[in-house]
Amino acid sequence: MKLKYIIAGNWKLNKGPAEAKAFSGELSKRLAKTSLKNTDIIIAPPFVSLPALMANGFSIGAQDVYWEDKGAFTGEVSAAMLKELGVEYCIVGHSERRQFFNETDRTVNLKVSALLKKNIRPIICIGERLEDRKAGVMYNVARFQLAAALFDVEIKDPVDIAVAYEPVWAIGTGNVATPQQAEDMHEVIRQSLEKHFGIDTGSRIRILYGGSVNEENIEGLIDKDQINGALIGGVSLDLDKFLSIINHIEKRER
Ligand code: 13P
Repeated sequence: MKLKYIIAGNWKLNKGPAEAKAFSGELSKRLAKTSLKNTDIIIAPPFVSLPALMANGFSIGAQDVYWEDKGAFTGEVSAAMLKELGVEYCIVGHSERRQFFNETDRTVNLKVSALLKKNIRPIICIGERLEDRKAGVMYNVARFQLAAALFDVEIKDPVDIAVAYEPVWAIGTGNVATPQQAEDMHEVIRQSLEKHFGIDTGSRIRILYGGSVNEENIEGLIDKDQINGALIGGVSLDLDKFLSIINHIEKRER
């Protein structure tokens, strides 16, 4: 089944409000000249730059969220606050948060539930470390991370969540997974989604690949049946390259 692709830019700790405003103005202008048929575009900037994004032709995503609505939680931002800003998507469980900020499978699950309650669509990141792959346990790692993230989670519509497979060894390294490595993992993820949500819903949830995606390797990845888009770090900071990725997808026959 052909699903609408997602191309999402995760800016990480890059682009403050001024740069974000300039980028999003130019992106909207350039997108206005094309009518996108195949692609949902998302930009996820740092929190402080969210209000500077003038989303014309694309959606706004956050990079993290806290699961409580309000209270004594210094430094945190709630789903209700993101909703108020017009945020439609939120990345959850990124490997950098797991690695540097004590994100756990349990907190990922709490965040997913909190977002869905406020009608924000979680993009759940999962993926194995190099040692997991070397040991041949990558599918089990991904299955476990996904099952934990989805504990007690129900959705009304398959577009309500997306899963991003981001092998840790591919993030920011230039070592992109081969299209077949990604496809094999996406098939495992698809099976898990169909088991959790039933075939009808599970077969229509979008599964993105992330990790050293660029304007050259996107074509091979997107050729695969189960790769429904990409979560892009470094290359999403460059407007021309980001648009070139979108154009590759848009010119495909559906
Ligand atoms: P890179 O595209 O820079 O490898 O980052 C991928 C990523 O972490 C997206 O969330």
